[in-house]
Amino acid sequence: MDLRDSIRIIENFPVEGISFKDITPLLADGEALREAINQIVNHLKDKNIDMIAGPEARGFLFGVPVANELGIGFIPVRKPGKLPYDTYAVEYDLEYGKDRLEIHKDAIKPGQRIAVVDDLLATGGTVAAVSKLIEEVGGEVASLNFVIELTDLNGRDKLQGYDINSLIKYDI
Ligand code: PRP
Ligand code: MG
Repeated sequence: MDLRDSIRIIENFPVEGISFKDITPLLADGEALREAINQIVNHLKDKNIDMIAGPEARGFLFGVPVANELGIGFIPVRKPGKLPYDTYAVEYDLEYGKDRLEIHKDAIKPGQRIAVVDDLLATGGTVAAVSKLIEEVGGEVASLNFVIELTDLNGRDKLQGYDINSLIKYDI
């Protein structure tokens, strides 16, 4: 099965010039969804991962099922003001706009190996912010996993030294 067949391209969304990769057909197709989760699980299963972290919101969609399949826990990295306990925060640039992400200060035990899961690697701003938060709370970023990578945005340049796994690559 080619996961690419389950991605719908919407031109000029959310702003002019952006070719949006819509994952909702993949989420709607049980076989494609299971295949995407399995491919990420296969990449991670021998890497001694202690927990999965995923950024709100689309990182939750793939991160929790991957964690469940590996039999490990999930750390939500959230947008501002959503986490109730003590947090660390980091501001970052998006493909279009700016945002801020937060993590609970006690989310990770020192030295734990954390794999990040998100739907998309675009500029890399989001996952770089997530990685910074994980390291700030004492974790080791063991792997970065994406369903889709937009290669022309050179997100990998921001992520040198990290293990990067993406299931589908687009060059536009
Ligand atoms: C999207 C996407 C990734 C991020 C990728 O999230 O889900 O998390 O952008 O872009 P980057 O590599 O340039 O940072 P978005 O912030 O739009 O929010 P959402 O997940 O809540 O939809
Ligand atoms: Mg996101």
